[in-house]
This record gives sequence, structure tokens and C-alpha cells, in this order.
Amino acid sequence: MNIAIITSGGDAPGMNAAIRAVVRSASGQGFKTLGVEKGFLGLIENLFKLLTPRDVSGIINTGGSILKSSRCDLFKTPEGLEKASENLKSRRVDWVITMGGDGSMRGALSLSEVSGIPVTVIASSIDNDIAGIDETIGFDSAVNTAVQAIDKIRDTAVTYDRVFIVEVMGRNRGFLALEVALASGAEFAVIPEHPITVEEIAKRIKQMGEIGKRSSIIVKAEGAIGDPFQMASKLRELTGYDLRVTVLGYIQRGGVPTARSRNLACLFGKRAVELAAERKKNRIVGLKDGQVVDLNIREVCESIKKIDDEKYELVSILAI
Ligand code: F6P
Repeated sequence: MNIAIITSGGDAPGMNAAIRAVVRSASGQGFKTLGVEKGFLGLIENLFKLLTPRDVSGIINTGGSILKSSRCDLFKTPEGLEKASENLKSRRVDWVITMGGDGSMRGALSLSEVSGIPVTVIASSIDNDIAGIDETIGFDSAVNTAVQAIDKIRDTAVTYDRVFIVEVMGRNRGFLALEVALASGAEFAVIPEHPITVEEIAKRIKQMGEIGKRSSIIVKAEGAIGDPFQMASKLRELTGYDLRVTVLGYIQRGGVPTARSRNLACLFGKRAVELAAERKKNRIVGLKDGQVVDLNIREVCESIKKIDDEKYELVSILAI
């Protein structure tokens, strides 16, 4: 069997560990692995290279993707999908393993529909927004990176009695923000799933001030409320507090993967190859209730992941 492996969309710490797990598990089964460079764009541009177990040495502890990635609009067109499919067939690829998040999963499904080649998706995304899956590769690493940054920011917040808005990634969902807010002891988790107005936040900041709490951390998901700097100036006006903004940005996507992200990568990579060996097509591999599971990609694409409301409430309960 010839397996093509692709890393697509946003990189997530642990992707390299998953590449290693796929290549070595595949080799153990007597399968050949072809790495596709630059994500789905590389499928269109025919950027394949053979990956042997030796080629994936020394990468379990590195961030990014040795295969590189891309955002590829061409892949969303019939022409792009046709070209990708032609290239896969000319390389005699029997199975495609793609690592990525929600968008990559949808792209992989379209590819399978057009090419007839089965796919397996390894859930890898710092957004952790895939329905039916509790945890993706990279999420734990991104949470820890953001929490470490906020621990440092809190030192300044407390020293100067300041309020900080810390914006984290997550696209249009609040999973990363909520996990980070709870773990960093933030006073607010501002997430798209629980809309809140700036006026409401201002009121709570003032109430907390009255009971002696003079500094706060607002963890804001990038998809909630809007521009953090505008939010800060409005809050400044409404509360009279000294406010600062930190947008954590891409530091959350890079860096050394945590042990947890690496271990998930090893488990998911192995399972993805087993699915190919079992000819169980079009599944996504992730963690659910502490177990490695594989779910039907189409069903996952049609569902929306729910936010944990209890966790959201807990941030406020513990913020007094
Ligand atoms: O999906 C991962 C993610 O980092 C999101 O959190 C963020 O909105 C987006 O990717 C940023 O994308 P890009 O790398 O194209 O700027």
C-alpha cells in the first residue's frame, strides 16, 4: 500500500510527532509513505517525497511541520481537486492521511469524493473545534503556551492594578480561550458561544473593584466581540481603569509540543495506519472520553461541537 501524508491548514505542535508515528507504523506494516509538501497545494503542484523511518528521526519534539503547510483556495475548486486527484493516481497512492482541523477535514472529504481514494484525517488543531472529538493534537501545547504567557502578564496586572485583555486564537470558536481562562485563573472568558457586552464586563470589573479586586485578566477569543483595542478603550472609558491589550497570536501555534500532544500524536498516527490496513475509509481519528476513536468524517462535518457551559460558569464562580 502507498500512503500519502499531508499536513494542512494551521500547524499544531505535535504534527511532526504524528508524521513520525505514521511513517514508522506504516513501515512496520510493509507500507510505503509519501510525504506531500505544502499541504493541499503540494498535491496540486505534485510535491511528493518518499519518507523512510530514518527521515523522521529527531522530530518528535519539534513544532511546525517538516512537510510544511498552506492555505490553498485553489484546492476548493473543481479544477484544483481534479489536479490533486490526477497527481495522486499517477503516484499510485492508495490512501491519504491528512492532519489538520475543521477546514482540512472538509478538504480531505472532497478529495476522497473526487478521486475515489480513501482518506483518514488525524485531528490536529489548536482550535480543538471538531465535533465528536474532545481533544486534537496541539491543543494541550497551545493551552500551556497561552497559560505561561498569562502567568507573566498577571505579574504586571497585579503590580499596577491594571486590567489586561489577552486575545487568544480559536478562529470563530471559544474552546482554546475557555481552557486558557480557567487554567490561568482569568476573571473573564469572552467567547463567541456566550455573548457578553462591553457594558456588562465594565459593570463586573467595577463590582470586583468594590470588593478589593483591582486587577483582572480578560481572556478574549479572537472570534468574540471584535477588535481588542477598541474594546479596551471603551472599557477604559466605562471603568476608569488602566487597561492594556496583549494579542498572543502565533506564539500559540509554534513551539515544543507538550508530552500530552506528543503522546496523542503517537496514538493517533498509529491508529490512522491501522484504519488504512483495515480499509476503513473516510474516518477522523481523535480523543473522546479518554479513548482514541475514529468517526465518520461526513457525520462530523455535519455536526457542531458544543462548548462546555459548566466550565464557562466556573470561570466566573472562581473569579471572586
Ligand atoms: O486554525 C488555527 C488558527 O491558528 C486559528 O486559530 C486562526 O484563526 C487561524 O488559524 C489563523 O490562520 P492563518 O495561519 O491563515 O493566519
